[in-house]
Amino acid sequence: MISIRSLFPIIVLWVILPLQGSDSPSAPLRQKASEVEVRVEKLLNKLTLDEKISLIAGDGFDGMSTIAVPRLGIPKLIMADGPQGIRAHGPACSFPSGIALAATWDTHLALLYGEALGREARARGIHIQLGPGVNIARTPLNGRNFEYYGEDPYLTGEMAANWIKGLQSQGVVATAKHFVGNDEEWRRMEIESVMDEQTLREIYLRPFQKAVEQEGVWAVMSAYNKLNGSPSTANERLQNSILKGEWNFQGVVMSDWWATKSVEAIAKGLDLEMPMSYHVTKETVTIALEEKTLTPERINDAVRRLLRMMISMGFLDRKQERRDLPLDSPANQELALDVATKSIVLLKNSPTLLPINRDHLKKIVIYGPNAQDTPSVGGGSGGVTPFHKVSFLEGIRNALPKETAVFYAPMPMSSKFSLSNFLDFTQPVILPARIVNIRRLISVSEKNLTRVTSSKQKVIAISWSSHSPPPNIPKAQEGRVIWDAEIEIPENGNYELLAEGHPEIRLGDKEVGNPESYVLSAKKGDLLPLRVTASEVGRGSGRVSLRIANVPESATGTFPAKGADVAIVCVGLNPDVEGEGYDRGFALPINQQRLIKEVSAANPRTIVVLSGGAAVDMRVWIDKAPAVLQTWYLGQSAGTALAAILFGDANPSGHLPCTFDRSIEENPTFHDYPGTFQKGKEWPVVNYNEGIFYGYRGYDRSGHEPLFPFGHGLSYTTFSLGAMEVIPSGDGYQVSLDVSNTGKRAGATVVQLYLSLPGESTPRPLRELKGFQRIELKDGETQKITIPLSSSSLLYWHPVQNGWVAPQGPVKVQAGFSEHDIHQEIIIPPLLLPTREVLGDNTVTLP
Ligand code: BGC
Repeated sequence: MISIRSLFPIIVLWVILPLQGSDSPSAPLRQKASEVEVRVEKLLNKLTLDEKISLIAGDGFDGMSTIAVPRLGIPKLIMADGPQGIRAHGPACSFPSGIALAATWDTHLALLYGEALGREARARGIHIQLGPGVNIARTPLNGRNFEYYGEDPYLTGEMAANWIKGLQSQGVVATAKHFVGNDEEWRRMEIESVMDEQTLREIYLRPFQKAVEQEGVWAVMSAYNKLNGSPSTANERLQNSILKGEWNFQGVVMSDWWATKSVEAIAKGLDLEMPMSYHVTKETVTIALEEKTLTPERINDAVRRLLRMMISMGFLDRKQERRDLPLDSPANQELALDVATKSIVLLKNSPTLLPINRDHLKKIVIYGPNAQDTPSVGGGSGGVTPFHKVSFLEGIRNALPKETAVFYAPMPMSSKFSLSNFLDFTQPVILPARIVNIRRLISVSEKNLTRVTSSKQKVIAISWSSHSPPPNIPKAQEGRVIWDAEIEIPENGNYELLAEGHPEIRLGDKEVGNPESYVLSAKKGDLLPLRVTASEVGRGSGRVSLRIANVPESATGTFPAKGADVAIVCVGLNPDVEGEGYDRGFALPINQQRLIKEVSAANPRTIVVLSGGAAVDMRVWIDKAPAVLQTWYLGQSAGTALAAILFGDANPSGHLPCTFDRSIEENPTFHDYPGTFQKGKEWPVVNYNEGIFYGYRGYDRSGHEPLFPFGHGLSYTTFSLGAMEVIPSGDGYQVSLDVSNTGKRAGATVVQLYLSLPGESTPRPLRELKGFQRIELKDGETQKITIPLSSSSLLYWHPVQNGWVAPQGPVKVQAGFSEHDIHQEIIIPPLLLPTREVLGDNTVTLP
């Protein structure tokens, strides 16, 4: 029987672990926490107030470091973006993106990935890695999903924890970001995320909690968005009560770049303004101290945290740069390829088209923009410049004998370019749609005043650079530009809006988001109201435009795919459409959709290769495409990894870390994305009304069938699961079962454990992921695996009791190969659960 005592070890361990970080291999000098504290106090006492203030804001000179105090040996800390490689320090190993790592479901690989990144950082003298990103894929449209670990807090937490452990073991600080509720990029600088306490605790805070309590992560980056009314950087409850209070976080809270709104943030728990001293200056801090809105003790606490992190990680006692490490490391290259290969998900393979037998291959045709220009990573601060890169096309060519004829038909990404690049077809001429009655408004905020200018325009377009600021926006300032217009429709049919620079599009009352391409159906004579909004106009250089094009009826004509043994279509997203600062549409550009349909129709041996950080709309072609591979962003070795899977040198073993929606309308967050402008608020608000019922938890409740469920992933072999046994053990349970490879080739699968907690007084998801294990098996082999299930996985946040509670009814444990492919089930009877009597007031609040 489980008693409250069995829960104690978890609680106590969680309090101790952050301190252990300083005593563990992560601190190369292995100093005791108490010794670190003595050194911290000594230094703190020697620092002047000015020096302390200089330490709690970044050095704006390079925007990626802190300020040193040389007289006391306090170094300048160098930071680098990640989390999929070292950015902006010359070329570096470009690892697969976070979502790809998550698709391996391999925690050991996550550890090795973190270690490798740690070595990459040390080779370049970097102290702090700005990763991992542990926000949650609430919607597939979030532009930064590719950097994160998918939709599930347990999977995210496990992958992130191992990544952090690996990175920090090399003497490099990890930064869990973006704290918290930064789950979309639309209006990211100002949006307010609103969610109830249960949703916050069970889903969005969970990975951060694990990073802090289990791995002692040394830095947390607070986000741009507001959460439940307060800006993240000045959110006292999040930073002080939860992070530093309940979770006993000992490290540093830094702001996201330019996210700090005022010096008040320091009083409310922020320790470091990045990238520079803008709001946290000598003047503002002095005034705040005089006015007693900030205390000297709080400044000391922030500095103490910085010093504690530096001393524990050895930054004061050794050089951060390790010259003995290669900048271009063969071991890291190999690891990047291994992760890439293991992350590819075989979504569909009928009738067992893959793997391709290269002995019988005479002619192969390859299509699509991503074949040659294979995206290794999504857009924004996660970008890495690799030393070497293998495109899909090169990877496939390299893997084939010289005699095999490989044809490539290039196609630009967007519909801005015609399919006729490589197709011979004629299109009927139809009258073009027009954007008319265009009025442009420019608003700029200066000294709390908003100045608005308005003018008539001929086109929706604006461009600027540092030499030529946009009209009506003063140099070095930013503004918002809004175009109001109408679309005149000449004929019934489909029309495509083609955007550049990611403006927000609103059609009538419908917020369309920031897609590069959006197709609408309209009737002759329609006059559709259109609003296009460009934010951050004037920052750096840029161009924003929108135009409309007719979508021709289907293409006809000769098609080279027909005679080929195999046709491969490489399509999907890329950094231009999916990245930091902008969300994306669900549909693929119309030309990509048509390309897939037409190649699949011409050749029954067509394989679709998708790039991107989450699902795209596959409805119009999925039934026609016999085989589909999801390849995320695979980093520098994308082509080699893809070829290994295509030709069967590796057996696909990736499983989806996020549900793949059939249609975006069925996604549980559809009605609450991207957000709305509410009366009395100047900023948009996104309400997480779906609560904990998003992703697979939401699909199970609505009864809609997603296109591919969470955890799905096919293989070239087959697996089965034997009977399951659950026994109490240590602080929880051990779940054991036999896994067999029942097919004819070696392969790996992921056994996933889901718990169904009884709903009692509050509705619970049908099942939730609480354990998993990736396992490699030879053909015909059976192995017993044991997956630990901690008793904390039984706890859930009770909305009425406002605390963690343990279930009282029976708990169902299910094992399977995806959330919809459950093979074994067992009940933990109430007798083996912690009882309410034992738990005292029925509520167990985690530390
Ligand atoms: C991003 C962070 C990044 C930082 C520094 C911000 O705009 O949101 O993820 O680490 O810039 O480049």
